[in-house]
Amino acid sequence: MGYVGGNRSVEVLLGGLRRLEYRGYDSAGIAVIGTDGGLEVRKHAGKLRVLVDDVETNPVQDGPTGIGHTRWATHGGPTDANAHPHLGDDGRLALIHNGIIENFAELKTELLVAHPETVFTSETDSEVAAHLVGYAFRDTGDVTEALRRVVAKLQGAFTLLVLHRDQPGVVVGARRNSPLVIGLGENENFLGSDVAAFVEHTRRALAIGQDQIVTITADSVSVTDFDGNPVDTEEFEVTWDASAAEKGGWSSFMAKEISEQPEAVANTLLGRSADGAVHIPELDGLDDTLRGIERIVILGCGTAAYAGMIGKYAIEKWARIPVEVDLSHEFRYREPVIDERTLVLSISQSGETMDTLMAVKYAIEAGAKTISICNTQGATIARESDAVIYTHAGPEVAVASTKALVAQVTAVYLFGLHLARLRGTLGTAEASVLLAELQAVPAKLATVLEQHAEIRELAHWMSDTRSVLFLGRHVGYPVALEGALKLKELAYIHAEGFAAGELKHGPIALIEPGQPVFVVVPSPRGADSLHPKVVSNIQEIRARGARVLAIAEAGDASVLPYADKVFTIPPASAFFEPLLAFAPLQIFAMELAAAKGLDVDQPRNLAKSVTVE
Ligand code: G6P
Repeated sequence: MGYVGGNRSVEVLLGGLRRLEYRGYDSAGIAVIGTDGGLEVRKHAGKLRVLVDDVETNPVQDGPTGIGHTRWATHGGPTDANAHPHLGDDGRLALIHNGIIENFAELKTELLVAHPETVFTSETDSEVAAHLVGYAFRDTGDVTEALRRVVAKLQGAFTLLVLHRDQPGVVVGARRNSPLVIGLGENENFLGSDVAAFVEHTRRALAIGQDQIVTITADSVSVTDFDGNPVDTEEFEVTWDASAAEKGGWSSFMAKEISEQPEAVANTLLGRSADGAVHIPELDGLDDTLRGIERIVILGCGTAAYAGMIGKYAIEKWARIPVEVDLSHEFRYREPVIDERTLVLSISQSGETMDTLMAVKYAIEAGAKTISICNTQGATIARESDAVIYTHAGPEVAVASTKALVAQVTAVYLFGLHLARLRGTLGTAEASVLLAELQAVPAKLATVLEQHAEIRELAHWMSDTRSVLFLGRHVGYPVALEGALKLKELAYIHAEGFAAGELKHGPIALIEPGQPVFVVVPSPRGADSLHPKVVSNIQEIRARGARVLAIAEAGDASVLPYADKVFTIPPASAFFEPLLAFAPLQIFAMELAAAKGLDVDQPRNLAKSVTVE
């Protein structure tokens, strides 16, 4: 984050970093040009708390200009020396960097030839950029000009923010394939990786495009391309306020965000239907395109990819069009067969995940149509796509995705119903029944959350467990995958999810007496219900000693004889069960992690928004 304004940089930066910490939390640092004209840098490995404690004990000379960073290590481990900011121009310039500079080794060699006196104090690629901008400043005497010269040489993805002691009152930023937004205040301006950095101070924001440079002072903002030509920016208002990104009495952000799931679904449904039919206004203008496409490819990473898998089942069934789901990072490098009759639907909470962004860009170059499902206004993926369907889950701070996931599934279902209407593949009555089921989810989900205490009890009781398996079929299969991912991410327990039908083809060998297995049981109602098949799978694992933890429909007596524990979800037809079945698994993973004394909001080694490939 960057700030220019009143003599309160330290407070503003530390406050902003606190809100940005979920993006990376292995080190943190600030650089401030004090009112005495000196440049002071303070940085530490560890969570932001370590830096805050240091600044509280030994205050930094405050001033109007500063930059701050929280890190998720790429080049060089999390140490004090590798933490940002990095210095250039003999300590007169400070720079912070997100991303990876791919040609840093080459640039470092060139730099040491030109300036053999350069002393490197870290193992980072970022420090090379700091020295390069430092030397360029000696030639130009202007930070913007110096940064412009340097970015022309950089390969890879980056957001860079720079300040120089000899040009106080100025912070300059540059971005390529990595996020950066501007916050517009009264006699103060901000830069941040996302709006959370400054939402406490202003809700007026400017999104800037790729390969652009921004210079802020307390009362001016100027944006140019890398060649120095002025460019237009797009102002938007942040729709949530700072309190939405506060814990507000909850034990963790994750607990708060799990509780907000009914609202996340309800808000994502708002304004997207009329008279029993789905109509997504954001897709107006794409009717002919959507009627003409022959295939859909859904892309995402982590939890978002599981939302995509669920989407595949629904879109194929309702809109009768082939759908393929791929992990973004696998898609791009396998020369996928796509053309202008392919729709690429990307799913990303942050809208900044580098793997997904690059896959979307690849698809655009190949001529495909692109729609994104995204939770963050003005995010890069949203801006690159032909259209965006925003999920209205509100800011999600905990690293493990919860409310964003249910909002993504809601959005992908809305998209499936919108497409089915355009392509005439669902009867009006059938479509309106499905929409009504979707609209009934928030109230049903609220009742699932009432089982929190019971799930906590099981999680605490199982806190020594070393391995847990998850089974599901059809849309229950991605639910099983997500249950396993949550347990890995949060509780560091070995966990795997399987399609229940695949069990007999290998995984059943893992079952030994006492092995806990969560089973997502489909509703017994409906002619094509997979309930009997899943119950057979339960019997197969029970026969081999598994401890069965079932998530089943309330009133489904047939699983009771075979399950050691049953968590119930209200009756819903197959497609709507995932929206209800995620919550018990999320709560289980969160409570088990809490029982082990782990930080559920910031699990080790992870970051929420992974803006490197
Ligand atoms: C990271 C997070 C995951 C998240 C994934 C995709 O890996 O740790 O929780 O599901 O990124 O993030 P996105 O912002 O693209 O949805």
